[in-house]
Amino acid sequence: MVGDGGTYGIVLAAGEGKRLRSSLPKVLHQVAGRTLLGHVVSSLEELNLDRIVCVSSDIERFKEVLAGEGLGSAIEHILQDPPSGTGDAVRLALEHLGGVSGPIFVVAGDTPLIRASTLASMLEMHEAAVAGATLLTANADDASGYGRIVRGPGGEVERIVEDADASDEEKALREINTATYVFNASRLNEVIAKIDKENRQGEYYLTDVIELLGAGGDPLVAFEGDIDESHGVNTRTHLARVRKLLHQRVCEHWMEQGVTIFDPTVTYIDVTVEIGSDAVIHPMTFLEGSTSIAERAEVGPQARVIDSSIGPEANVSFAVIRESTIGPQASVGPFASLRPGTTVGKGSRVGTFVETKQTVIGDSSKANHLAYLGDAEIGTGVNIGAGTITCNWDGQAKHKTVIEDDAYIGSDTMLVAPTHIGKRAATGAGAVVKGDVPDDALAVGVPARVIEGKGDKLGHKQDKKKPEGMAPKEGDAASDS
Ligand code: UD1
Ligand code: CA
Repeated sequence: MVGDGGTYGIVLAAGEGKRLRSSLPKVLHQVAGRTLLGHVVSSLEELNLDRIVCVSSDIERFKEVLAGEGLGSAIEHILQDPPSGTGDAVRLALEHLGGVSGPIFVVAGDTPLIRASTLASMLEMHEAAVAGATLLTANADDASGYGRIVRGPGGEVERIVEDADASDEEKALREINTATYVFNASRLNEVIAKIDKENRQGEYYLTDVIELLGAGGDPLVAFEGDIDESHGVNTRTHLARVRKLLHQRVCEHWMEQGVTIFDPTVTYIDVTVEIGSDAVIHPMTFLEGSTSIAERAEVGPQARVIDSSIGPEANVSFAVIRESTIGPQASVGPFASLRPGTTVGKGSRVGTFVETKQTVIGDSSKANHLAYLGDAEIGTGVNIGAGTITCNWDGQAKHKTVIEDDAYIGSDTMLVAPTHIGKRAATGAGAVVKGDVPDDALAVGVPARVIEGKGDKLGHKQDKKKPEGMAPKEGDAASDS
């Protein structure tokens, strides 16, 4: 065994990421439901390392963000101020670790595509070769911006040259440094002290340690990986590129698990989502956060589901659903907005242009069209007619509407909350309901008054006198059909 028996990790995450032109630190930008940093930390944590150090420019904020993603509870955070290069960041992390000597991973917080399995294979290769450094490299069609691997006549790794410092000949090299390494920590400790900032960017480059380790006789291993796992993020264009690759990867994972995805190129699923087998996901669907889709459910086209659970065989199309629970065989949409706190019972329907909020709908109930249901408790077998509104806000406070089992709410009913509609009770079309309606009662309200002689809005009587092309009467509110 090499070293002290431990295996360690350093995550480089300091600096703002100027090229992103953002007020948010670069590695805290999100792709597929996690920060760039979160993706990297998640892969690293899968390896069960003994200690992981994260170097950043804002310890409290980074701790909080990772905790919010359910990650990093054992990570040790240190500050790099000012961020004067990846070499300086690693030196600080090593000082913090205090003379450890096992293998140590160094990964960049801006390379979210890195897989735990690749890191594990790198470690194996590193230990087998008793290497000073094992570096993940990849062949890029467009290597611009990346450090290039310079190999010697026998193909051995000699050094890394940064893009900014590279000659034209070196710029033509396609093999890039992915900023993912395993080092022998004791040897790294020795050489890290020797690097300087004599380069185009005036920074301490971690990449300079490669040449120093090689010169000291340590074997250097290049682990050639897949470019699709190696992209770093320096610009918004890079951010879009890694997002696309991650979404593709997530879709492939779920298709392998038996989920039908019509078109993975236009389906956006966060890494935090769970999907049951034989679920069907249609195009332009966004599944976000802690969302779960049960088996045989059908979601999309055009659905955005955030932190919600969709039950088995439920159907959701053209809808936005947030922090809500949709029961088995329920149907939502087309064109529905379910805001936080909505529960839709088994087999119930929330149809076209229906908005809900903090509302529980029991089993086998229907609100098929044009309704607002807020702060409501709706029983089973209830029919909500088109145009129904729970008038839940009186301008000062929110009030509750309770509708008991098997009630029938007629079209265009205004339920002025607080109100309680009893079992099997009904309301007539256009009723304005204030107060409670007992079980089995019918509430009819605001009956239309009949005013003689004020009809003929379409001017039929006058038509008889003047058969051709009548202009609408003045003051006629109805639109032309
Ligand atoms: C770095 C590598 C380059 C490689 C590329 C891969 C160096 C000198 N260059 O370049 O060879 O091809 O990554 O993506 O290492 N960071 C700190 N402290 C600092 C500076 C950076 O913690 O002082 C962190 C950043 O948050 C970032 C990572 O280190 O996550 C890499 O830094 P970045 O500035 O993006 O390096 P690149 O120019 O991309
Ligand atoms: Ca980078």
